[in-house]
Order: sequence, then structure tokens, then C-alpha cells
Amino acid sequence: MGTYAIAVLAGDGIGPEVTAQGVRVLEAVAERFGHYFKMTEALVGVAAIEAEGDAISHATMRLCQESDAILFGAVGGRSGGRSGGRSGGVPRMGRDKAGPSYEGPHSGVQPERALFRLRKELALYANLRPIRPFDALLNASTIKADILRGTDLLVVRELTGGIYYGKPSEIRETAQGLEAIDTLVYTEAEIARIVRTAFELARDRRKKVASVDKANVLSSSRLWRRTADLVAADYPDVTLEHLLVDACAMHLIRRPASFDVIVTENMFGDILTDEASMLAGSMGMLPSASLGTRHTAHGLFGLYEPIHGSAPDIAGQEKANPIAAILTVALMLRYSFNLKEEARAIEGAVERIVEAGYRTEDLREEGKKVVGTKEMGRLIVEAVRG
Ligand code: IPM
Ligand code: MG
Repeated sequence: MGTYAIAVLAGDGIGPEVTAQGVRVLEAVAERFGHYFKMTEALVGVAAIEAEGDAISHATMRLCQESDAILFGAVGGRSGGRSGGRSGGVPRMGRDKAGPSYEGPHSGVQPERALFRLRKELALYANLRPIRPFDALLNASTIKADILRGTDLLVVRELTGGIYYGKPSEIRETAQGLEAIDTLVYTEAEIARIVRTAFELARDRRKKVASVDKANVLSSSRLWRRTADLVAADYPDVTLEHLLVDACAMHLIRRPASFDVIVTENMFGDILTDEASMLAGSMGMLPSASLGTRHTAHGLFGLYEPIHGSAPDIAGQEKANPIAAILTVALMLRYSFNLKEEARAIEGAVERIVEAGYRTEDLREEGKKVVGTKEMGRLIVEAVRG
């Protein structure tokens, strides 16, 4: 019997509806295995801006610091929110128009700031995004089943550095008109620690690391490559391959099964994981874990979120796929609480329900049963109960 403190930050758009299903699954695990998950809810994103004047309040930051793990939904307002405002649940309905993601009365504050603060201030520099398409979904992908078969890869994305945080980052006036600048900066130490994380993880897998950069153009990538080579010397049992990011984007859909661990900088990781999510059939299938070095009484402290984002265009319509949020809970149990059997129970339950032919809207397929968000959650809860 263990007691685990979890901060639940459901956020905006489909965040609350998918997180609610993750919470139900956690409750089912608690009941079956005799644990106590002490869950405390708080606001983030647009909801927090409107009620508390900031994308995440000091009190909520403190709550997160005092918890053993954070269960996060999504943040972002209208179009241009997470992942360009495309719906996590229904990629085929995607809208690509970028725009301000929040246009309310406090529009100086971006909802995404909540995520950036949590990642940076809690030093969660390693973002793990595992991609292992379920056999039953091989035909749901836009990629041919033959190419997909055997795919089991893990993207390790650097999360607290690079162009997301570099200063200056601004639009400014010049005599010739406006200009904009962003700064891509990495220290050797930042690169070394994330590459090391990738090698450690590869040791428990197929012992292959692909380090992705743009060393033919960027200085930061040249340092990245050099540093990766230095780290690799400590892991003679793991093979290292360097790939340019453009080539990697191509190989991901050409030979996805050949990858084991992919390690890359913040923005490349952001882009490549949206692409890679389609290997699993839909963005609505992919969980993620963000980890640092802080240990709690139970394991590594971490933030857990589906990769799909707030998908405001389908919010509140029972169309969102809760599987990413549910698999996110499994990652939390595995990495932050060391509850491996419980994590497997969730993953097994999801797989059984998908195999039984249940699908949410994003995975609609001839001859399969399309169910809503809550019903998908209920089915998985029943399967967890066994
Ligand atoms: C992600 C998202 C975020 C990111 C957005 C919401 C800022 O796309 O987690 O992949 O770019 O990191
Ligand atoms: Mg993204």
C-alpha cells in the first residue's frame, strides 16, 4: 500500500475530458492494487489566466513542487494553440492556420507559459515520447502496415533549452522595418546530460541511439554532435548513429522499425514527434513523460502529458481520444512510482480494448466500433479491473 501525491492540471480544450479518463483509470488501479493516489486539482492555461491572472499561479507551482508527479492535460486557446491548433483527437480535421492562441482580456499572457515554467523551473529536461503502434492499429496509420510492423522507438527530446528559451527572442523595429530574432543556444553540459539519458535508456532496450542534429548548418548542432561522440565513449555496448534532422524526418516514415532511441534538441524533437505520432495511427495515442533528476520517496519526479495538445475545435464533443492521457498515466506509474506491474496492467487494458475493435473518432475504420471519449474511458477502466 503506497500513498502518492499527484497534482492534476487538466488545462484547456480537450485537456479536461481526456484527463478525467486518466483519473478514472488511476482510481481503478488504486482499487485493484491497493494504492492511494492523493490527487489535487489546479488550474493552468486559459482557465488560470481568466481566474488567477497568470497561466500558472505561484500556488499551483508550489503544489507541483510538493507533489510526487504532475498529471497534465493540455494548454492553449483557439487556433494556433498546441501543434498549430490541430486537433489531437482528429488529425484529419486538422487546421494549419497559426494565430494567437489566446485572445481574451489578458491576452498578453500566453497559456503555453504554464508549460514552459513547469518544464524549466522544475528542471524537467528529458522528455520521453515512446512510439509503439498497436498491431490492431497498423491499418489505421497513413503509413503502410508492412513498413510499420516492428516499430518500437523512443524519442528523447531535450526540453529546457534551445530556441524555446534562448534570449533574445523578440520582434523589434529597425530603420528598415520590423525584424524578428530567436536564439538557439546550448551548453555542452545541457547536451551531455540529455545524450547520457538517451544512452542509459538504450541500454535497457535494443542498444541503439540515433542523435539528430543539423550539423551541416548550425553551430549548436556541431557542438551537439561532438558532445554526443564524447558521451558515446562511455557506452561501448550501445551504437551511435548521427542523422541530420531532414534525413531523420524522411527515415522515420521510410524505415521506422529500424529506430530504437532517438535523441534530439528541443524544437527538432517537437516536430519529429508530431510526425512520428502518425506511426501509431493518431496523435491521440501518444503519451509523454518529462523527467529531471529530482527523486521523491517513490522514484523520479516527473510531469506527464499526452503530446496532442488542446484541440479546441473538437473540445466538448466526445470526440477526443483519451488513450494518450491514459497511457500517460501508465508512464507516471512506471517512472515516478516504480509501479511496473500496474503500468503494464493499463497498457494491456488499452491494447485489449483496441484489439476488441473499439475506436474513437480519430481512428475511425470500416467495421470498427466508434465510441465517445467517456465510453472509451469506461471500457478501459473495466479492462483494468480485470
Ligand atoms: C509539445 C507542444 C508544445 C511544445 C507547445 C504547446 C508549446 O507542441 O509539447 O509538443 O512545442 O513544446
Ligand atoms: Mg509539439
